[in-house]
Amino acid sequence: MSPDPIRIAIAGTGNIAGIHATTLAGFGPRSAGSAGAESAGNPASGGNPESAASAVIVAACDVDGQRLATFCDEHQIPAAYHDIGTLLRQSRPDLVHVCTPPWLHHEHALACLRAGASVLVEKPPTISLKEFDELTAAESGVAESGTAESGGTHFATVFQHRFGTGQRRLKALAAEQDGPLGRPLLAICHTTWFRDQAYFDVEWRGRWDTEGGGPTMGHGIHQMDMLLDVLGDWTEVSATARRQARRTRTEDVSLAHVTFANGAVASIVNSVLSPREESYLRFDFENATVEVTHLYGYGDHDWRVTPVPGHEHEVLTTWKHAGSGVPSGHAAQFREVLSSLRDGRRPPVAPADSRRTLALATAIYASAFTRRPVTPAGIGPGTQFYGQMNGGSFGW
Ligand SMILES: NC(=O)c1ccc[n+]([C@@H]2O[C@H](COP(=O)([O-])OP(=O)(O)OC[C@H]3O[C@@H](n4cnc5c(N)ncnc54)[C@H](O)[C@@H]3O)[C@@H](O)[C@H]2O)c1
Repeated sequence: MSPDPIRIAIAGTGNIAGIHATTLAGFGPRSAGSAGAESAGNPASGGNPESAASAVIVAACDVDGQRLATFCDEHQIPAAYHDIGTLLRQSRPDLVHVCTPPWLHHEHALACLRAGASVLVEKPPTISLKEFDELTAAESGVAESGTAESGGTHFATVFQHRFGTGQRRLKALAAEQDGPLGRPLLAICHTTWFRDQAYFDVEWRGRWDTEGGGPTMGHGIHQMDMLLDVLGDWTEVSATARRQARRTRTEDVSLAHVTFANGAVASIVNSVLSPREESYLRFDFENATVEVTHLYGYGDHDWRVTPVPGHEHEVLTTWKHAGSGVPSGHAAQFREVLSSLRDGRRPPVAPADSRRTLALATAIYASAFTRRPVTPAGIGPGTQFYGQMNGGSFGW
């Protein structure tokens, strides 16, 4: 169990850290009980606001002193540090939000776990499965040795699109044995976004050693995570990756065919070259098609359910009663993370779930570069793509 309010630190004060800080302000101790304000303006709402845990940001760190100072000033953060080690020693937070570039996630999350702080890492959780497994091992090691002061030190990943009610009701209905949707048969998962060349001027983007990949790891990973959240374990991947237009070291487009343990098959496209941008997921079940079309976040109205004739009543009635009101986004996930920590439960997204998504990204690269189908065993410890997403030598 963590104290309430939960004391949070933010590592890295760039773009996404601003969303973290602004969102966390909605969970501040003073607003924790203000149901009216929450349900009106805070997308974390949708349940009973009184149950929300509260949080306070106690510290932040960044190697860029100017950015750090502006950030702490804007979000009224009392302690600023230039390195995470000093932050951890002096501020002793309960939870650290790691918002640094992907190549630093492993180092920073490890430092947090060893210091006895839980850690919520931005996507992608790490830039290789090897790094990921080291974090999982460190998390269990800390728990076993009892180093964690709170009695449970956790490692979780930000995959905020799992937490809107649309995704949650689809997941619940899909998991029902003999449920109204029937068996999942086919899925489509498209992340067709647009990033111009200037986007890649940021030093860590578009490189295997700092970002771990292109749109497969950095952009499509959101939709692929939603896909796996519903369909579960994948068993085989065949993929193509290409660098069509951007001057990067990584792909700027990838395509994959995936087979799932439950028998479903899916087609995936990840792109940063697509002028009409869209995030699109489509699930064809025996009794209905369920689709969501959005860009960087969805609400209930972005979902569409088309039943097979004869199944309308059963499918639509169940869908309608499966909950509504929470859009996807950081607020929806933070709400769950904070209440889990407060109540002594593992915060989402748990390592077993985020590893499955990272493994799919790894398999897409492994298949694309070796030009053969890849199974989970083909990217395990000791294999070429386990330690580096490009297998150490592929790319552009
Ligand atoms: N969940 C989402 O929807 C979403 C959206 C955008 C970005 N992200 C992820 O968030 C992470 C950060 O992305 P960003 O766009 O905010 O990057 P950014 O470059 O804007 O910010 C990163 C910050 O980390 C700082 N930093 C670098 N090295 C550091 C170190 N050793 N110690 C402390 N700070 C250090 C940089 O100075 C910078 O301020 C990435 O993993 C990215 O994929 C997630």
